[in-house]
Amino acid sequence: HKTQVCIIGSGPSGLLLAQFLAKAGIDTIVIDRKDRAYIEGRIRAGVLEQGAVAGLDEAGVSDRLHTEGLLHDGFDLAFDGDRHRIDLKGLTGKSVMVYGQTEVTKDLFDARTADGQQFFFNVEDVTLDALTSGAPKVRFQHDGQAHEITCDFVAGCDGYHGVSRKAIPADVLKTFERVYPFGWLGILVEKPPVSHELIYANHQRGFALASMRSETRSRYYIQCNASDDVADWSDDRFWDEFATRLGEDTAAKLQIGASFEKSIAPLRSFVAEPMQYGNLFLAGDAAHIVPPTGAKGLNLAVADVRLLSRALIEHFTRGNGAYLETYSEVALKRVWKVERFSWQLSMLMHQFPDHSPFERRMQRAEFDYIASSEVASQVIAENYVGLPLE
Ligand code: FAD
Ligand code: DHB
Repeated sequence: HKTQVCIIGSGPSGLLLAQFLAKAGIDTIVIDRKDRAYIEGRIRAGVLEQGAVAGLDEAGVSDRLHTEGLLHDGFDLAFDGDRHRIDLKGLTGKSVMVYGQTEVTKDLFDARTADGQQFFFNVEDVTLDALTSGAPKVRFQHDGQAHEITCDFVAGCDGYHGVSRKAIPADVLKTFERVYPFGWLGILVEKPPVSHELIYANHQRGFALASMRSETRSRYYIQCNASDDVADWSDDRFWDEFATRLGEDTAAKLQIGASFEKSIAPLRSFVAEPMQYGNLFLAGDAAHIVPPTGAKGLNLAVADVRLLSRALIEHFTRGNGAYLETYSEVALKRVWKVERFSWQLSMLMHQFPDHSPFERRMQRAEFDYIASSEVASQVIAENYVGLPLE
């Protein structure tokens, strides 16, 4: 096979990149080691920044998002039962959109399928070769047959566990990592959300987050041990713990029911530098991971892809390589700022097993400061609605 851009991974990064390039008349092949049903079924992020919505608008895949998404003008921080609303709209003039990653993915798949663009699903043994030549190659197994794609560029959109990042030589790649000593246990339940807006709560027993997917479907999370198994968490145990952490007043409004999805995600901060090697460009989770506090993972992926698609389009349609040359540097500047915000909000909102009473008082003082200062609230709001692209 021959194509202009071979995209490895059909998560949100790969699909959105394919969509932008298709609109500009650039040929792509997308490969993934899973299939469409599996990818659409992965329950992950739920909050889109205004800039991410603008990106999906530009890509022409936002019709359903604007009818079914929920516009949110604020959210609550809670600390041992005390609440403080971050007035996103009042403090920044911007809002966020609650719309699940599953739906973003579905809209992108529908667009690509309508365009008749090429996919290979369930591929195995993917390898990248000749990345610093003008004609990189991607090889893989599909349906028992060996395939080779020759392309101008490879886009590594294959997530944290993918092969693209690992194709960058060890003496070129620098990685930075922090693993948090806990996980998030998340459930989906067909009940109206306990609150119209999201609540991020720090309670003595640990973090809790009340989110949603629609007016009738709730997405709730609690901090759990990194070593916990979902089998340890019956619905009853989850509801007890969640209600306690929300506090009595909020818990009084909680509607409980049978969960229909339950999973545990580890928390990690991770950055790989640079995001380019020869004609390989990384985007999304392949290059960086944020802890979920602050809802930045998917939004960062969209921001990377907006930068990368512009760079590739400039190269192919105008022969201007300047944006490709600076992609890694420009993307990483923003990535680090978003890493900082996600790290800071994670540090503020969780119970750390190694914290002394001093650090606990520091968390409380930070919460009290934010609650008493419009400037401090505005700093949170500005980051939450999304920093400018560059
Ligand atoms: P991915 O969505 O990971 O897509 C990568 C794709 O590459 C996958 O389809 C995978 O099958 C494919 N792939 C992997 N290896 C190969 C290979 N060798 N060859 C071919 N294809 C390959 N963010 C939030 O903001 N809020 C959340 O609540 C939240 N929860 C999360 C929960 C979990 C369990 C995880 C893992 C992430 C969560 N995130 C969350 C982060 C957010 O979902 C990601 O940032 C987002 O999915 C990044 O998109 P991506 O396309 O870069 O990567
Ligand atoms: C959701 C996930 C997050 O990490 C977050 O900060 C807010 C909402 C969610 O899945 O709804």
